[in-house]
Amino acid sequence: MKKFTSINDVENLNELIALSEKVKQAPFDFKSIGRNKTIGLLFFNSSLRTRLSTQKAATNLGMTVMVMNINNDGWSLELEDGTRMNADTQEHIKEAAGVISQYCDVIGVRSFASLKDRIGDYEDEIINKFIKYTTVPVISLESAILHPLQSLADVITINENKTNNKTKVVLTWAPHPKALPQAVANSFVEWVRETEMELIITNPKGFDLATRFTDGIKVMHDQDIALKEADFVYAKNWSSYDDYGRIGIEFDDWTITEEKMKLTNNGKFMHCLPVRRNVVVSDEVIDSTNSLVLEQANNRTYAAQTVLLKMLQDEK
Ligand code: CP
Repeated sequence: MKKFTSINDVENLNELIALSEKVKQAPFDFKSIGRNKTIGLLFFNSSLRTRLSTQKAATNLGMTVMVMNINNDGWSLELEDGTRMNADTQEHIKEAAGVISQYCDVIGVRSFASLKDRIGDYEDEIINKFIKYTTVPVISLESAILHPLQSLADVITINENKTNNKTKVVLTWAPHPKALPQAVANSFVEWVRETEMELIITNPKGFDLATRFTDGIKVMHDQDIALKEADFVYAKNWSSYDDYGRIGIEFDDWTITEEKMKLTNNGKFMHCLPVRRNVVVSDEVIDSTNSLVLEQANNRTYAAQTVLLKMLQDEK
């Protein structure tokens, strides 16, 4: 695996999940593979889970880890080619990526959508420029439009908790006071549609995800009907794709409550975190025994470790 930016970089999802099971059972069995290898983790924005779980994953493989909050601690990066850099940017991504490639065997990049420029965001410029200009494998720690490590952890978590083969998974929009990217939702759809499970998306009108992700998937605008008999309820806010970046603050009845969960098949509650309690989900639901949020966060380590292991194995 030369890069990990979406499901399209995965040759065989079932094999990747099987490898993650081995990794989770014996996380220190692969300690020698990363010896004398360095991973550089570059963060353009805040993170708790991705940062700590990827560091832990790399350490479990014996790698040296370097972390940089590149926006705060690095030079201001120029992304455009052919620009005369006589304004605010100080270093071109071409040199930055080339230099980091000298120091690292794998590079992880975390960036967010601007939510102002849909075309620019959906070109996923930061991660793609790093891929273009690095000479080592690149792993997405969440890009403007996708969050594949989160999705791998989510699929692992669902696999561990499903009790039947006709599993119904509902991805539901939930309220949020700030504009959030569509990355987690886009990615979740990309990954779950590769499995045998039934996937339904529910969101208010005006909040449909990009059709390049949802083509062929049932999208419902009535949350209560969508939630019926769900085995897993994955709540996530995203701002509007059509009216790019719009917040749906008026849809506050989309919060996941105990009443909503009663519509499901004793459904498990999922969220990638961080989550705004009593806005996205009620205390009762997230604190219930059906809540999988901490299991998802735990599986972030094994998702990252599995992907890194695959990259290191493929390099040999
Ligand atoms: N779920 C997730 O990516 O969390 P962080 O933003 O804290 O990394």
